[in-house]
Amino acid sequence: MELVHTIPEVRRRVAAARQKGKRVGFVPTMGYLHEGHLRLIDRCRERADYCVVSVFVNPTQFGPGEDYERYPRDLERDRRLLKERGVDLVFAPDVAEMYPEEPFIRFQIEKLADHLCGPRRPGHFSGVLLVVAKLFHIVQPDVAVFGQKDLQQLLLIRRMVRDLNFPLEIVAGPTVREPDGLAMSSRNAYLSPEERRQATVLYRSLQRAKELVQEGERSARNVREAMRAMIESTPGARIDYIEIVDLEELQPVERLEGRVAIALAVHVGPARLIDNLVLEIRGDDVREIPAI
Ligand code: PAF
Repeated sequence: MELVHTIPEVRRRVAAARQKGKRVGFVPTMGYLHEGHLRLIDRCRERADYCVVSVFVNPTQFGPGEDYERYPRDLERDRRLLKERGVDLVFAPDVAEMYPEEPFIRFQIEKLADHLCGPRRPGHFSGVLLVVAKLFHIVQPDVAVFGQKDLQQLLLIRRMVRDLNFPLEIVAGPTVREPDGLAMSSRNAYLSPEERRQATVLYRSLQRAKELVQEGERSARNVREAMRAMIESTPGARIDYIEIVDLEELQPVERLEGRVAIALAVHVGPARLIDNLVLEIRGDDVREIPAI
């Protein structure tokens, strides 16, 4: 495995791999890796012969007062994990390499970002699309893998690839959970042991929502209210949003039918955590399905 820090070094390595006829896979990350990231890498290796991972905490996707400065970083540990997992190339640029000057061009998103995290984190998805588009141009992968935990990000990136004709395939990896259901996230590192226990309420409320739908509940409001009551009775947890949206445009639905996502963001102590569940509902048949 090679670790490089500059764009020309990545381009040279990827071009050499391509010349040998290899299919290039890519997993962009912000580092501080956990099993969730490593499963994305497994997926990447199943679909490509040469696997590139980027480790870059992207400043343009953090708003004022968010956790850019304190976002956990440990490149040495990441490097070890990536080597063990069979990654071929790690790209860990610094901010000056990715943004040598203030970018003038930004993404304006017409749909998909007006609910869920979009309005709560103004500019966030524009910053995500900016860095992902730059990384796609730098790495030029055939396939890129993103986690379903960041459902809105996944669907926006898939749409950007379609709208802007990037010649690559987007693949989703399922959310990886701790044994008690908490979705793995680098931000779980912010939690004290007590907050870590409280944080399981996100998963428990999603499971309760699924049970209600399996029992026949179809009103989005009733499902949201049941989740709200559960979270509000958990000390230390503060709801940012609970929304039930369609999977095409991420717009709120009143009734649960077809393919819908139940998504939430909750503050627990110093961490803002997100999670979601995608259901397919056909008559009485209710199944949990992958987002894409
Ligand atoms: O999901 C993340 O870790 C980031 O948003 C990404 C896709 C690496 C862009 O910075």
